[in-house]
Amino acid sequence: MNNVAVIGSQWGDEGKGKIVDWLSSEADIVVRFQGGHNAGHTLVIDGVTYKLRLLPSGIVRKNKISIIGNGVVIDPWALLDEIEEIRSKGVMIGIDNLIISESANLILPFHKEMDEIREDAAGKAKIGTTRRGIGPAYEDKIGRRSIRVMDLISEKNLDQRLETVLLHHNAIRKGLGKNIFKKDKLKEDLLKIAPKILKFSKPVWKKIYEFKKQKKKILFEGAQGILLDVDHGTYPFVTSSNTVASAAATGSGCGPNSINYVLGITKAYTTRVGEGPFPTELKDDIGEKLGTRGKEFGTVTSRKRRCGWFDGVLVRQTIKISGIDGIALTKLDVLDELDEIKICVAYEIDGKEIDYLPAAVEDQLKVKPIYKSYKGWKSKTKGIKKLDDLPPNAKIYIKELEKFIETKISSISTSPERNDTILIEDPFKS
Ligand code: GDP
Ligand code: IMO
Ligand code: MG
Repeated sequence: MNNVAVIGSQWGDEGKGKIVDWLSSEADIVVRFQGGHNAGHTLVIDGVTYKLRLLPSGIVRKNKISIIGNGVVIDPWALLDEIEEIRSKGVMIGIDNLIISESANLILPFHKEMDEIREDAAGKAKIGTTRRGIGPAYEDKIGRRSIRVMDLISEKNLDQRLETVLLHHNAIRKGLGKNIFKKDKLKEDLLKIAPKILKFSKPVWKKIYEFKKQKKKILFEGAQGILLDVDHGTYPFVTSSNTVASAAATGSGCGPNSINYVLGITKAYTTRVGEGPFPTELKDDIGEKLGTRGKEFGTVTSRKRRCGWFDGVLVRQTIKISGIDGIALTKLDVLDELDEIKICVAYEIDGKEIDYLPAAVEDQLKVKPIYKSYKGWKSKTKGIKKLDDLPPNAKIYIKELEKFIETKISSISTSPERNDTILIEDPFKS
């Protein structure tokens, strides 16, 4: 049995959607286990683009089961809109191929409002969130006042749960001089859509157990990236969930031994959306070039992504934190035209060299990257499907990178298209 967890090893948008879709030809089940519609996973299949936010990237393939686990925060209206949008592209979505955990927590309109109120009030100290209500929804989950999918079953229960959560939110809203959020309209709106959500709802832990017994292959699809992890990322400039591979177990209801291979998706350079430290950021022409060639605009918010050189120190660190077994290196083709390509191999802080990113944000902002330079290959890698067909300098860059991060590069992606991918080691078979 081989189940694979796919996670981002940088600050998100590494190309997880593309790789999950490509790998899901081999999987039976694809499971989202954390995050919410802050995620934006892009698939390109024969020229048709699908942008997925909450739906697992396996949804577009026939005869696969997609699961939204308990660890995901669900905005029910966003989910219903997304289902309609993807259906309109000819994809079948029904109770036979989509399961939602009854224990998943809901993102409600007052969460989104709280996200916006706080970001607006923070001024320069803002996090640059996606303003989708992710943070406030996870706060309510941990604060034990959240509303879960299963709460939509009973009007009486929903009423009580809303009373509890709004008591908390309205106290804060009053303090910030905002209007009170009214319960009755929200309850009415929720009860209207409840049947559309509840029809997908099941005990996911039980389904996963059954699938494992049937020897089905499960692909766990992470959102965001390890540097956005609430424990291990560049706190406080992070998201509000654990994005590491072990979150796949808690976020879906199976043991950590259900994950047999952790595949870290890694861009051949680095990007970040939102605020926060970024040691290898390039605020020059090369940064602009990477952004233009890589089409680095947020899938969710359309914000311009910040771009920089590959940070080997950071990726080596996230590999260790998350137990990554192999790397899928993406967007190699974006580097095709560069004369020189750099990898960050150490940092300098206060005149001292260090080999990891310190935990304090003040230090993270101070570190200066130390680079090693490589010659560009100046030829087209876009669409290459065989390792042997890569230009020699590209092979050197990949080998050096592999050596530095001490982890095998098990696949290489050379365009947004599903099949423009070089397979070196199959994570389901190793
Ligand atoms: P995710 O959030 O990790 O799923 O990544 P996104 O979908 O937000 O961003 C990755 C972007 O890069 C998308 O537009 C993909 O279509 C695109 N992409 C993925 N792999 C490659 C690749 O190898 N080359 C190029 N040029 N684009 C890629
Ligand atoms: P995928 O799955 C890139 C970033 C936001 C912000 C921070 C907190 O597509 O890789 P949040 O709304 O989560 O409270 O915002 O996290 N962020 C992402 N950046 N890719 C993502 O998802 C992201 N999801 C959140 O930009 O900096
Ligand atoms: Mg994305």
